Amino acid sequence: MAEKRILCVGLVCLDVISVVDRYPPEDSDTRCLSQRWQRGGNASNTCTVLALLGAPAAFMGSLAPGHAADFVRGDFQHYEVDLAHVAVHPACTLPISMVISNAATGTRTILHAASNLPDVSAADFEQVNLSQYKWIHWEGRNASEQVKMLQRVEKHNRTCPASERVATSVEVEKPRPELYQLFPHGDVVFVSKDVARALGFCSAPEAVKGLYGRLKPGASLVCAWAEAGADAMGPDGLLVHSDAFAPETVVDTLGAGDTFNAAVILALSRGKPLQAALTDGCRVAGRKCGVQGYDGIV
Ligand code: FRU
Repeated sequence: MAEKRILCVGLVCLDVISVVDRYPPEDSDTRCLSQRWQRGGNASNTCTVLALLGAPAAFMGSLAPGHAADFVRGDFQHYEVDLAHVAVHPACTLPISMVISNAATGTRTILHAASNLPDVSAADFEQVNLSQYKWIHWEGRNASEQVKMLQRVEKHNRTCPASERVATSVEVEKPRPELYQLFPHGDVVFVSKDVARALGFCSAPEAVKGLYGRLKPGASLVCAWAEAGADAMGPDGLLVHSDAFAPETVVDTLGAGDTFNAAVILALSRGKPLQAALTDGCRVAGRKCGVQGYDGIV
């Protein structure tokens, strides 16, 4: 039987990326080194990396009509990401992020668009045939709806044979208190450095120890901290750590967190222990930072 897909629920947008050799001063007129369009959005980027790593991936999110949306659809198809659960909203426009990628430092500065695209609702998610997926990942956005989606999977898992269970993960990336209601739901919870800091923690191990109690029994908490690597804790209560794998030159950090999440999810979905999954996440995210875009990670 073919390997079941991993479904990622969240945002797709267009990233218009300008690569510069130094950050432009305000009111200046400078030339960039290069420019490109790239499909973006956390869940969408995680799908790209899963596909590149050889996992069948599917994306669930909203699309709009128009050139930008045609571009992102074509790009999903290029990576063979399944789009069966993408809904097109005719009166909306796809969000476009303006990204300045600084080739000298590897930093990325993102200016988000305000968007009128609706997030996936619990009612939309009712249409998903859960038995098609081995793992469903949510990028934390419209949290109260996402909690209902997670509860649907929890209910499914209580009533089906073990072989049919769907593993879940959630990403709590933005320091918005509304998103914190997601902590007690995923089997795996990814908490960002920004959120950890906003909650008063100064390192990944501190955050993992301090926030673990918010999870449901049996879950794992993962926190990546840029150059400091990543830490995690599973149900055995043991703290595991991986150092970062810094590339020789940091070229492009856009989507490094989404890449980390993809590699961790894939490793866990294939039965690797938490420590090995964390090391995979850091290794693949490190490779990503050394190349432009995602193709060079494999
Ligand atoms: C990177 C990213 C970009 C996008 C922005 C949206 O993690 O997903 O692709 O522009 O963040 O928040």
